Amino acid sequence: MNDIDVSTIACAANVNGGNKSDFSRIRTIDGLDVRGKRVLLRVDFNVPVQDGTVTDTTRIARVLPTIRQLSIGGAKIVVLTHLGRPKGRPSPETSLAPVAAKVAELLGSVPVHFVKDCVGEEAKRGVAALKPGEVAVLENLRYHEGEEKNDMGFARALAELGDLYVDDAFSSSHRAHASVEGITHLLPAYAGLLMMAEITALDRALEHPARPVMAIAGGAKVSTKIQVLTNLTERMDALVLAGGMASTFLYAQSVEIGRSLCQPDAVPVVKEIMERARQHNCEIVLPQDFVVAKELKSEADWRIYDVGNIPQDQMILDIGPKSVADLKRRFGTIKTLVWNGPVGAFEFAPFGNGTYELMREAARLVREGRLVAIAGGGDTVAALNAAGVGQDFTYVSTAGGAFLEWLEGKTLPAVAALAENGLKGLAL
Ligand code: 3PG
Ligand code: MG
Repeated sequence: MNDIDVSTIACAANVNGGNKSDFSRIRTIDGLDVRGKRVLLRVDFNVPVQDGTVTDTTRIARVLPTIRQLSIGGAKIVVLTHLGRPKGRPSPETSLAPVAAKVAELLGSVPVHFVKDCVGEEAKRGVAALKPGEVAVLENLRYHEGEEKNDMGFARALAELGDLYVDDAFSSSHRAHASVEGITHLLPAYAGLLMMAEITALDRALEHPARPVMAIAGGAKVSTKIQVLTNLTERMDALVLAGGMASTFLYAQSVEIGRSLCQPDAVPVVKEIMERARQHNCEIVLPQDFVVAKELKSEADWRIYDVGNIPQDQMILDIGPKSVADLKRRFGTIKTLVWNGPVGAFEFAPFGNGTYELMREAARLVREGRLVAIAGGGDTVAALNAAGVGQDFTYVSTAGGAFLEWLEGKTLPAVAALAENGLKGLAL
C-alpha cells in the first residue's frame, strides 16, 4: 500500500458538514519520548478465533508497526482490546489468550505476556513486571460492564495502569466506550500509526479527494445503507449502485427484476436519494446487464440478460459483461475510487466474477499510479483478497462498522475524543 501524507488532513475540519473533528489537533506518536513509560495501547484485536486459533491475523499485523515503534522506543506496552460481545461475562471463546500467543509469534523477538484481567490487582502486577520494550496483552475489556457504558470509574481503573494513552483502534472508533472515549479525559492521548493511516485515507477519499471521484456501493439492502448513499450523493461525482441494492433502485423505476432481492418499502427513500443526487450533480450509475439464475447457489445455471429483460422466475446474482466493460472504462476517467460492498453474490461461484474483474482493473490502475482506490468493510476486503489484489489498493481499511459510519458522514466518537481531549491528561 502507498504511504499517505498525514499533513494533508490538517485542514479537514468543518468541510461540508462531514466529519466535524479538527484532526490537526490529534497528536501522533512520531517523536514522542516513551522510554521507560507505561503506554496503554488500545488496539482492535476483535479477530476471528476458532478452536483457540486466530484464523485471520490482518488486524494484528496492521498494528505491529505501532507496537514495534513503541518497543524500540523503550516503552512498556500495555495492550487493551475487546474481542466479541461477551457483555460483561468472561467466556473461553472470548479470551484474548490465543490472540496474545499470535501477537508473540508475529512479533518474534519482543517478549509478550498475557495478563488475565485488564483492571485491578492482577493487571497492576502484570504491568509492574514489564521491562522496557516488552508487551503485555490484557484480557478482554468487555468482561467489565464499565467498558461499553463508558463508565468513568472503569476508565480510571484503566488509566491507573499507564502514563500515556495511544489509540490505534480505528475500527472501534464508532463506539463511545471507556477504553477509547472516557480514558482520553484522563491520560495524554495520542493516535497510533494505523489510526492516522485510516483517518488520512478516509479523508483523502471523502473530504479531499482528487476528482473526479466515484464510489461503488454494493451489498444486499438499501435500508442498511440509506445514510451512506445520502452522504455519498453529496460528495461523489458518480455513485455506482450494484449488488442487491441495484434491484431495488430498478424496481423503483418500474423495471422488471424477476425474483431478485428487493425492498419495495424502500422505494420512497430510493426516490429521495435519486433526487438528492440530481441536486448535487452526482451521476447515479446502474448496471446495464446482469448474470441471473433461478437460485442462489454455487454453479447454478446462469444466463446473461440486459436490464429490462430479466425473466420473472430468475434473480440477479452479478453484473454482466457490458456493465463490467462500462465500469472499467469509467475507472479510466476518474482519479479516486471509494469501494464498499461487492457488486454480486461473490460467495457463490461464478457470481464473484464481476466484482473480481473490476477489483483487478482498479488495482492495475493503482499500480500504474493513475488511481487512488480505497476500500473497506468485511465483505469488500474478503472479495479483494479472493480477487488476489488485497495488497494492491491504495488503502484497505481494517474497519467494518466504523468505515460505514464514516461513509455516512458521522463523527466517530473515539476520533473526536482524540481531537478534543488529546491534551487534557497533560494537565494532570
Ligand atoms: C468491529 O469488529 O467492527 C469492531 O471491533 C467493533 O465491534 P462491535 O461491533 O462488537 O462493537
Ligand atoms: Mg461490528
